[in-house]
Amino acid sequence: MSVKFLCAIYFTFLVVRANPRKVDTLINPDCTKDCGDGIGYFKAVGAADDLHYLISSIGMPTILVVRTDQGASVKPEIDWPKLLSRNESEIRDSITFGDKIKIKYSFAIVFPKLYEYNDTKDYADVMMYKGNATNWNIYDFTNFTWDAIGENSNVDLNYLKIMATQQLNTTFQNGTLAFEFNSYDHEARQNDLPHLQYNENNTIIDFLIDHVTPVFKKSRFALEAIFVSADNTTDDMEISVTTSIDDEYSPGVFKMTNWVTRPHNLDETGYAQWKPVCYLKSARSRSDGTKMITSPLQRNSTHLDMEGLKQTIAYAYFGDKLLNMEIGGTNLSFGLSQDGFYTKTEHTAWTFLVGFGDPPQDQVSLLVIIVISVGLGLPVLFIIFGGVFICVKKHKDKKKNEDDVTSDSPSVN
Ligand SMILES: *[C@@H]1O[C@H](CO)[C@@H](O)[C@H](O)[C@H]1NC(C)=O
Ligand SMILES: *[C@@H]1O[C@H](CO)[C@@H](O)[C@H](O)[C@H]1NC(C)=O
Ligand SMILES: *[C@@H]1O[C@H](CO)[C@@H](O)[C@H](O)[C@H]1NC(C)=O
Ligand SMILES: *[C@@H]1O[C@H](CO)[C@@H](O)[C@H](O)[C@H]1NC(C)=O
Ligand SMILES: *[C@@H]1O[C@H](CO)[C@@H](O)[C@H](O)[C@H]1NC(C)=O
Ligand SMILES: *[C@@H]1O[C@H](CO)[C@@H](O)[C@H](O)[C@H]1NC(C)=O
Ligand SMILES: *[C@@H]1O[C@H](CO)[C@@H](O)[C@H](O)[C@H]1NC(C)=O
Ligand SMILES: *[C@@H]1O[C@H](CO)[C@@H](O)[C@H](O)[C@H]1NC(C)=O
Ligand SMILES: *[C@@H]1O[C@H](CO)[C@@H](O)[C@H](O)[C@H]1NC(C)=O
Ligand SMILES: *[C@@H]1O[C@H](CO)[C@@H](O)[C@H](O)[C@H]1NC(C)=O
Repeated sequence: MSVKFLCAIYFTFLVVRANPRKVDTLINPDCTKDCGDGIGYFKAVGAADDLHYLISSIGMPTILVVRTDQGASVKPEIDWPKLLSRNESEIRDSITFGDKIKIKYSFAIVFPKLYEYNDTKDYADVMMYKGNATNWNIYDFTNFTWDAIGENSNVDLNYLKIMATQQLNTTFQNGTLAFEFNSYDHEARQNDLPHLQYNENNTIIDFLIDHVTPVFKKSRFALEAIFVSADNTTDDMEISVTTSIDDEYSPGVFKMTNWVTRPHNLDETGYAQWKPVCYLKSARSRSDGTKMITSPLQRNSTHLDMEGLKQTIAYAYFGDKLLNMEIGGTNLSFGLSQDGFYTKTEHTAWTFLVGFGDPPQDQVSLLVIIVISVGLGLPVLFIIFGGVFICVKKHKDKKKNEDDVTSDSPSVN
């Protein structure tokens, strides 16, 4: 066998093993003076395309995803003074990718509000209360102040963090309200529960409400989310839930929620994905997991915060197209009836993925397949071989009996 041949095999192996994308993180690209809350930027460069994730609390917490042709020079161009002007007509189109770049797809997820409500009936579902049916506090994120994104992030680890400034409000004074973003160049599962599967085409996000001071005796929280995509208003964005027979990655959780912009083209969809579970302690264990409820998708934009959207980087990028794009919103209610409310542990953490392409699916692992095969296979083998053994034995016995009858045995005489 020639050395050349071995090398060829070796390199094929290397190519197969190489990470499919290269991720770089930048804080406030091309900002020279005032950067306000700032923008965190993951650039995931692939062989055929680039994924650009722009993350910011300007206006409201927003993650903007743009898929472009592959190119070293492809990057967002941000007009910082306009973006920070707080004036809609200035913010509009203050983020572009230049005229020469081919945009393959783009979408954004925005978080307009956090609801704190007195869950007097212990429904654990914010949608069960209408109007003044209970006490509320609505924290409008447009009115929040946030730490500059660079203060709490780590570009070397491809880690970005949006955190509410702590002095903001008595509720949040001594606690943490934050979104944490991690980007990776390869496929794996998160170390913590619920062990979601991240890959080179998505970003994994933790939402955290830790040790804030609840206002009500039976306080619970719900987070509102809006998803917009470059597709048409009439296209059929959808939230669907799949059930798996296997809960090996997150024990006790058999369901996966996918919020997709293109349910009929899952290879090229924008998606958010999560398991209907959140955690009541920072060291996540199965027993600290509780439920979360996703409310039915609201597609009517008159019920969504379109004015607030105009302060965000989504508007800075999409401009007025945003008002006529595919859009939907939902409320994510954290907790489960009888889990003791937020008040019990004063901690809620929820993990989700945002990405492009086929949303990851929980596949039954090789180990489980082997265990099942052995578990099912042995009895089947016993049945088959046992059956054969019995048949053969019976046949032999029968033959022996026949032989006994027909043959003249000296001993009988
Ligand atoms: C917002 O910007 C537009 C266009 O630049 C300008 O005409 C308008 O006066 C500004 N509005 C405010 C309130 O500054
Ligand atoms: C709740 O609102 C309704 C009308 O919106 C009003 O008639 C009712 O008095 C209110 N109840 C309380 C307790 O404020
Ligand atoms: C601060 O919290 C109070 C309730 O505790 C609420 O009424 C007020 O609107 C909040 N302020 C902001 C800026 O969110
Ligand atoms: C933001 O806060 C100001 C006062 O602090 C208030 O007048 C305004 O209504 C608030 N905006 C929203 C959207 O809650
Ligand atoms: C925050 O902590 C300080 C110092 O421990 C305390 O005085 C204050 O009351 C706390 N605020 C809230 C809202 O719990
Ligand atoms: C990521 O996206 C690229 C194309 O955009 C695709 O070829 C690849 O299979 C995707 N990887 C995963 C793990 O979905
Ligand atoms: C919240 O609900 C509880 C139980 O129904 C009630 O005792 C309490 O007065 C309500 N309001 C506040 C501010 O906690
Ligand atoms: C949106 O709809 C218009 C008119 O119905 C059509 O021309 C256009 O191609 C559609 N765009 C997309 C992205 O499907
Ligand atoms: C959206 O909601 C508004 C207000 O409730 C209603 O008037 C309008 O008919 C709704 N539009 C659609 C398309 O359902
Ligand atoms: C979220 O819940 C609040 C309070 O019930 C409601 O006003 C709002 O319309 C809901 N948002 C969505 C997107 O369903």
